[in-house]
Amino acid sequence: MTNSALRICVIGAGTMGQGIAQVALTAGHNVGLVDLDPDQLATAVSDIRSRLTRRAPGLLQHLSERLLTAPSVRDLSAEPNTVVVEAVVENLAIKHAVLQEALDHFGPLCRIATNTSSLSITDIAAGLTRPDRVIGMHFFNPVPVMQLVEVVPGVQTDPALVDEIRQLAVSWGKTPTVARSTPGFIVNRIARPFYGEALRLAEENVAPFDVIDRLIRGAGGFRMGPFELMDLVGNDVNETVTRTVWTAFNFDPRFAPSLLQRELVAAGRLGRKTGAGFYVYADGVAITASSPEPEPTRPVPGGIELHGDSAELEQWLLRGGITGELIPGPHPYLSLPGLGNVRITRGVSAQEEASIDKVPVVLIDRPLDMNAVACLAFSGSEDSADLAGAVTGLLRRAGIDPIRVGDAPGLIVARVVSMIINEAAEALHLGIASAADVDTAMELGTNYPLGPLAWADRWSPAYVLSLLDSLHDEYRDSRYRASQWLRSAVRRDRRSLRPSHLSAEK
Ligand code: NAI
Repeated sequence: MTNSALRICVIGAGTMGQGIAQVALTAGHNVGLVDLDPDQLATAVSDIRSRLTRRAPGLLQHLSERLLTAPSVRDLSAEPNTVVVEAVVENLAIKHAVLQEALDHFGPLCRIATNTSSLSITDIAAGLTRPDRVIGMHFFNPVPVMQLVEVVPGVQTDPALVDEIRQLAVSWGKTPTVARSTPGFIVNRIARPFYGEALRLAEENVAPFDVIDRLIRGAGGFRMGPFELMDLVGNDVNETVTRTVWTAFNFDPRFAPSLLQRELVAAGRLGRKTGAGFYVYADGVAITASSPEPEPTRPVPGGIELHGDSAELEQWLLRGGITGELIPGPHPYLSLPGLGNVRITRGVSAQEEASIDKVPVVLIDRPLDMNAVACLAFSGSEDSADLAGAVTGLLRRAGIDPIRVGDAPGLIVARVVSMIINEAAEALHLGIASAADVDTAMELGTNYPLGPLAWADRWSPAYVLSLLDSLHDEYRDSRYRASQWLRSAVRRDRRSLRPSHLSAEK
């Protein structure tokens, strides 16, 4: 199909619909924008006009011919070569009614793309006269800025429609990924632990929420921490997505909503939009932040030994200008003479590590990049005050801000990221999307610093599996069960979760 010749009909002129209409106009289409609320239509047109003034002033001249508004699809000419993009409220009955009306009006040749974020495409299409003409086209907010579009066929969708809608997204300057119609598609499914595990850590008092945010940014390399992001999106919106995915997965504990967030929603602390969420805001600036006591520092002893092979521990010492003696061995750790051992977390507590090593143990979190890390979480076994002081000194010498947290298995970044990687592995196991699309969707849809599969390549599937298995042993909670895809990769000694690395023996 020659794309710009297609007529686009966007139904719903709210946040998403007006963004979609703007993108379609910019790509050269004539657009009909439908909303039953006339005020909303007027606001949408004025917002589109002012955004185009900045971004595509040439379009303004012809805007009144190119953009028609109407209270109903029946007021638009019934051109069969129409792509309907539906962006009305997230309600199955309303979507059914709106889509059937569009099918009746434009005829069976029209294509119907729904922007639902949490309903099943198969459910939305079921019962319509032409379920084969319906597909998911999931945009991200703000639509003109966010590059990702998830294209989601339902069980009855005509396979030819997948390619047509992909091409349409490309012609709109977007990057499409394809996902099977399953709860949360790619992004809203794989991203759940980013929020859920951070909430669990806060509920367990491992660290205050703002400290978790700092660590996720400063050590994990994420642009925003989970709590600032939940406040930005709205705790009500974020909780609803979590609850919908959890319900759709038959209440799987992996996706369980958090009581901490529930309480905030009940109290009307929805985030930035109500002036308070996890944080309290004044003039748009978060003013609540805990200020932990600075960690006491002790002198760093000489004669540090680096046992085993760990580029990250080596980088840390190098950043601090320390040359440790390298001693071969199976499990990497630093030995600080007379004080104890330091390890990167592998999913068990420092207390348990100390009972194995028979010396005090301090654990550090696993960052995205030891060369770039700004702050790092650590925890210590009960008798590790002197060792912790030396580790604090060692971190400060490397320009890294040490942050003590509770002795929770997996600490902060290693635990949250391993859970995200596990979800990505499970998506591959169930054939939800291709490996390339999983990483593309997560990088573009969430701005993660690395796609989860690329992150697994960096840390190794064996590391992630061992961390998850340790969490599972510790909590005896099926929330932490590892994906069979991950376990199978490790069993086959694979260094990547991508199928090309697994297929030789599959
Ligand atoms: P919104 O509430 O801003 O806009 C919905 C619009 O639909 C309203 O203007 C309303 O008047 C209109 N509407 C309701 N019933 C209608 C009907 N029968 N006929 C015509 N217009 C009708 O909602 P928003 O945020 O734009 O979401 C729309 C859809 O996009 C939902 O399915 C949502 O799940 C999905 N979505 C939302 C995202 C977001 O960040 N807001 C992201 C991705 C998807």
